Parts: sequence; structure tokens; C-alpha cells
Amino acid sequence: MTPPLIAPSILSADFARLGEEVDNVLAAGADVVHFDVMDNHYVPNLTVGPMVCKALRNYGITAPIDVHLMVSPVDRLIGDFAEAGASYITFHPEASDHVDRSLQLIRDAGCKAGLVFNPATPLHHLDYVMDKVDVVLLMSVNPGFGGQSFIPATLDKLRQARQRIDASGRDIRLEIDGGVKVDNIGEIAAAGADMFVAGSAIFNAPDYAQVIEQMRQEIAA
Ligand code: DX5
Ligand code: ZN
Repeated sequence: MTPPLIAPSILSADFARLGEEVDNVLAAGADVVHFDVMDNHYVPNLTVGPMVCKALRNYGITAPIDVHLMVSPVDRLIGDFAEAGASYITFHPEASDHVDRSLQLIRDAGCKAGLVFNPATPLHHLDYVMDKVDVVLLMSVNPGFGGQSFIPATLDKLRQARQRIDASGRDIRLEIDGGVKVDNIGEIAAAGADMFVAGSAIFNAPDYAQVIEQMRQEIAA
């Protein structure tokens, strides 16, 4: 399996000190910055847009930025986020009228493309677009808020997604988002995930490096 990626979600960071927080979490060993975009329409919360992504790049953040779009419509933000320095752009299939087109727009803009599956969204949305997907992101909470509990049924769904990815023979990341903690990341990894979003578990901890190191040990165990 490809090396696991730890992706702290800035949703739980101190937004008043965002650049510093992202610097600190990367210095603590994180691989990717998970950037949650909420529009108060597709999800009942409102966060940040391309300007803040661009500001992180201008501040000097060079790590990959994983933009998780919880917005509808999707397409009009793709170009803006690509220009703002996004590395990955993922979206929810229910939020796009033309999933294939949205994936293609992301790839054409030079970013890695991904589909996000809510807890009750079936994996069949992957059926005809596997060749346009670089990441499959399974939500293990209902999107909109940090700090929720991991929904256990996601473990079985992860195993199914892992099978699909392996059967495709493609280089596709399997990302998990929601309620990921030190005490469940081991079984999440065993179920097939190789990219781990964690918001509250990391940013609410006093020592980011310690949590990230514990997570890596659990993944490797
Ligand atoms: C929820 C977001 C998540 C969230 C995860 O809609 O997509 O990225 O920040 O937060 P935790 O890790 O606290 O569940
Ligand atoms: Zn997210």
C-alpha cells in the first residue's frame, strides 16, 4: 500500500492564527492540509473560500492542500480553487449536476480530482468515472461540522471501496473524514484507508506532533 497521508482539517484550527496553525501542524509531521469549504446551502455551515486558500499559499505553505468542497453548485468554484493553489479538489456527487464534467474540470485545471461519499451515499457513483478519480473520500460523519463521532458502518464501506480501487488497478487514494481519532485510526487503516483527515483530534490536542506520531503508530500496527 502507498504511504499513509495524515491530513489535519483546518476546520478545528484557530482561524485567527490560521497560517501559524498550518505551519505548526506541518512541522508536527502532517502531510496534507485538509481545507473544508462549506456554503450554508449544501451543508448547514459556512467556512472559507479560495481567498483563504490563496492566502495560505502567499503565507508560504507549500504542502498539498486538499480542498473538500461541501458546496452546490460545484463547478464555478473549481477554477478559483485551482488558481488559489489547491492540490486536490473533491466534491459530493449529489451536489453536481454533471459529475463526469466536474471531475474533468478539476483535472483540466491541473488538480487531483475526487468524489466524496456521505454516510448514506452508495459507492455506485464511481461506476463510470473510476478513470477520472484520483481520490475516493468516504465521510464517516454527516458533513457540516467537526467534532462528531465516527459512524461504524463506514468500516464496511471502506472495505468495499478498497476492493473497488484494487480491482481498478489504478493509483487512487482512499480518504476517510470524520471522527478519526488515535483510538480508531488503526481499524480504519485496516479497513483500507490510506489518507486520514482529522480535525478535532489534532487541533484540540496540546501537542500536535504527539497525536500525529500516535496515529502513525496505530496505522502501522
Ligand atoms: C466535516 C468535515 C471534516 C471535519 C472533520 O464536514 O468535512 O473535515 O473537519 O472533523 P473531525 O476530525 O473533528 O471529525
Ligand atoms: Zn472535510
